[in-house]
Amino acid sequence: MRLDRYVAHALGISRSDAQALIKNRKVHLNQGLCTTIDRKIEEKDNISVNNEPVINETYHYIMLHKPKGYISATTDKKHKTILDLIETNTPLAPIGRLDIDTEGLVILTNHGSLIHYLTAPKSLIWKTYYVKTLEPMNEGYIPRFQEGFDLYDGKKKLYHSEPAKLEIKNSFEAFVHIHEGKYHQIKKMFFAMKNEVIYLQRIAMGPIQLDPSLKVGDYRALKAEEISNLLSLMKKR
Ligand code: URA
Repeated sequence: MRLDRYVAHALGISRSDAQALIKNRKVHLNQGLCTTIDRKIEEKDNISVNNEPVINETYHYIMLHKPKGYISATTDKKHKTILDLIETNTPLAPIGRLDIDTEGLVILTNHGSLIHYLTAPKSLIWKTYYVKTLEPMNEGYIPRFQEGFDLYDGKKKLYHSEPAKLEIKNSFEAFVHIHEGKYHQIKKMFFAMKNEVIYLQRIAMGPIQLDPSLKVGDYRALKAEEISNLLSLMKKR
């Protein structure tokens, strides 16, 4: 996280006020004066303002059962965003995105380095999706998902999808496990099979499962054990 953002959030002041404090030599980082507003800080760092320690920011972690019709952004001029569903004063952001018409698990947090780590492609975080299709599937789909498909990403760049695991429940329902998160990836994989996804729901992300008691549109704080499982992914780095 940037120093100015940390100070602003910890003291409940605007980013420009925090920047003024830093430029005016009021902020110390690990006992040394720091005047670099965008200095990257880590969990182990100690920050003080006017020689008063700034208590480490409390991180918040939320599990949302995203409904259709909301986009996974923090602001948007046209559409409702997932933040419209959550009452909070904390500046939360989602760990990864779901399409507007996809339902299911979205984890939101103000823990910037966790978001950065979990959304980096090299982190290889497995996500599980429940899928309903228009046309019937057959066992032949399983090796095709394993082999991967030539697909275009959100920037129209061709890539070959990493091996995905398909568990067929019945002809029209399946679970798909992927560790990528490319643009419309699941829909495009079924499209490559000349099939169509008619319902998509994310049910797991890394160690976190969508709470089956959470109704569509509802959210809850992550439990201590869930948070610790999530954070332990970062420690494995
Ligand atoms: N794949 C998709 O096609 N859409 C999503 O929302 C997530 C994964």
